[in-house]
Amino acid sequence: MARFPTDDDAPARFRKDPDPRFWRMNRSLPFDWQLAPYDILQSQAHARGLARIGVLTEAEAEEIVAGLDRVGARIEAPGFDFEESDEDIHMAIERLLGEEIGAVAGKLHTGRSRNDQVATDIAMVVGAASRRAMRLCAAAMERLLGLAESHRDWPMPGYTHLQRAQPVYLGHHLLAYFWMLSRDARRFGFAAESAAVMPLGSAALAGANWPLPREIVAAELGFAAITPNSLDGVSNRDFVIDYLSAAATCAMHLSRLGSELVIWSSTEFGFCELDEAFSSGSSIMPQKKNPDAAELLRAKSPRVAAAHQTLLGVMHALPLTYGKDMQEDKEPLWDAIETIESSLEAAAGILEEITFDRERLEEASGDEMLAATEVADLLVRQGVPFREAHGIVGELVRDAIAADVPLSGLSREQIAARSEALGEEYYEVLQRSSWLERKEVAGGTGSAPLKAQIEGAREALATVREAAGSA
Ligand code: ARG
Repeated sequence: MARFPTDDDAPARFRKDPDPRFWRMNRSLPFDWQLAPYDILQSQAHARGLARIGVLTEAEAEEIVAGLDRVGARIEAPGFDFEESDEDIHMAIERLLGEEIGAVAGKLHTGRSRNDQVATDIAMVVGAASRRAMRLCAAAMERLLGLAESHRDWPMPGYTHLQRAQPVYLGHHLLAYFWMLSRDARRFGFAAESAAVMPLGSAALAGANWPLPREIVAAELGFAAITPNSLDGVSNRDFVIDYLSAAATCAMHLSRLGSELVIWSSTEFGFCELDEAFSSGSSIMPQKKNPDAAELLRAKSPRVAAAHQTLLGVMHALPLTYGKDMQEDKEPLWDAIETIESSLEAAAGILEEITFDRERLEEASGDEMLAATEVADLLVRQGVPFREAHGIVGELVRDAIAADVPLSGLSREQIAARSEALGEEYYEVLQRSSWLERKEVAGGTGSAPLKAQIEGAREALATVREAAGSA
């Protein structure tokens, strides 16, 4: 396990090679090779920056830039292998650059440390991942909005405690998920913003010894600003935590959607059917069509939350500035990126192909018990205080259950026995169409506010799209 590719590269400080037991744990190449494209772009910008201040000649910078292009192509080529002695992607790229262009390669690391280098790479990764997540949120939001529009007048039971509560329109229910994702998109937008500040130039911790043109390098790499403090620059991973926090919340939202789809697609509910392309069969029971994609949406969420927790733990109480602890930022981040992107894509796919059963939904929403609050409000309109009305209707519900009839099956005498205020209107209120339409309040399920909501959602989607394009 040679620490250095050749004896000449070995700084005088070390006489021993690293112990294999240390190397196994220390070597980040098995996971940080994914930084290669970002590391190469960053190194090219850094080389150009060094040329601007005369540390490199234009010719040297050009040689380095071209050499780095070749290194990138070599790494991407099939069958390429790193050396066991490559500690991390930064050292590996420098070694490969040496193979391509010789001694000039050694000039690239002037005014730079792996500390500001790795922070810059990770910020670029988080920026790109945040923008992708915003676009994926927008795609899933578009599906939800389309479904909400086409199912805007399909009644269904709304639930609390997973017990039938009050009827709502299916479009209203689906839009609840739309708004969750719109907030997620904003959170990813914030992560993109917090990753848009370039640490490069902070060097090891105190700032580089050279007057690097940081603003120009930042602009070239797509950063909006440069870090104002070198110590914070090399030791900040807030942007990773911001991304993971956004991803954890988004995954939690998708788990709730997944969970509802699992329940709704059961024979007992029969509210919806997932497309075959998003379901699996059973290896033993030929009749089975299982909602695997929805179940996985449900189960993927805790690992994203765990990644967030891991990063908070890694950074917790870490003295300034860089500590090798921070190398542990990558694997949780990679896992969360893969998990949230695949989950958002699967969610959009499920929603593209899903079908709902209007009759089943309507039948379930026609349960007269769902109108209990309507009857209570009828009493309120007649001057009965709500608490009292709540008690009266509770008694009526009990009477109906005891007599095994729907609420409208109670006789005039029976309802009058519970309240003098109840007459013909009691039966009118139990006509189901009125239950939904009375929810006229802004944000309610009634057709008028729902129409306004759909318009608002269209605008919100356009805003997310625009933000994703400009983030
Ligand atoms: N592989 C390291 C990481 O991922 C790169 C930075 C190493 N810096 C250092 N001072 N050893 O964090």
